[in-house]
Amino acid sequence: MKGTSSAYPLWLRLWHWTNAFLFVTLLITGLTLHYARPGTMPEGFRTDVLLHNTAGILLTLFYGLFLYGNLRLGNGRYYKVLSGDIEPGLLRQTGYYLWGIFLGSPHPYPHSEERKFNPLQKLFYLGVMYLLFPCVVITGWALLFPDRLPEQLLGVPGIGLWALAHTYIGFLLSLFMVVHIYLGTTGPTLGALFHLMWFGETSHSQAAPPVPGPDLRGESGKHDDLRVTAAKEQT
Ligand code: HEM
Repeated sequence: MKGTSSAYPLWLRLWHWTNAFLFVTLLITGLTLHYARPGTMPEGFRTDVLLHNTAGILLTLFYGLFLYGNLRLGNGRYYKVLSGDIEPGLLRQTGYYLWGIFLGSPHPYPHSEERKFNPLQKLFYLGVMYLLFPCVVITGWALLFPDRLPEQLLGVPGIGLWALAHTYIGFLLSLFMVVHIYLGTTGPTLGALFHLMWFGETSHSQAAPPVPGPDLRGESGKHDDLRVTAAKEQT
């Protein structure tokens, strides 16, 4: 059923796609800088530094929008860890991604206006957006002012540790992005979640009936499905 989703307001979609664009820019320029060899064209190197720094500063500003939206505009409610999210949520959702999805089982935590994320997705987003992301931003800003960093840290040159942490966290975030894009294809149809994140509305094909398969949901999952079906019948 086609319909606007209040869970994906305009500010969130603007933040998300700007963030994704800046992140990819940072990834490409970051890799170019990391693997630059002595003798690399200095102009090209300088351009990459400029692009990387500018994208990093803009990414920080947009992270402020994400935090503000979660604190003040109601999006934070989707990130609250609820009872049942860890146990049995994590196991049930992991089981679904590992085999249920390939057997055509119904989604254990179907997407709804009240619950945007499944438990695994929620914990992933929490870890990425509230732990890894701030770390990559802080280490990036520290590297913008290398002369202010301590000369030695744990017996090694201070800047070396910041650079190492920045690089490794950047790699972890890039890994997240690959998994994130794959999981983005696991909605009701291949493109349904991308459509939702881009347009803020469910695509027509989202009402496609699930392929029959073993039911991996617990009792709570089944009740959620009933709520979604009831909501669909009302529209
Ligand atoms: C080209 C790259 C990307 C694509 C195609 C993409 C795709 C998507 C899609 C389809 C959704 C909606 C599904 C959902 O609600 O989970 C989503 C949500 C989200 N994405 Fe991405 N994404 C990309 C990059 C990123 C990056 C780099 C980050 C952060 C480092 C990120 C963080 C998030 C977060 C936090 C949400 C949930 C936002 C909310 O509803 O509160 N994404 N993404």
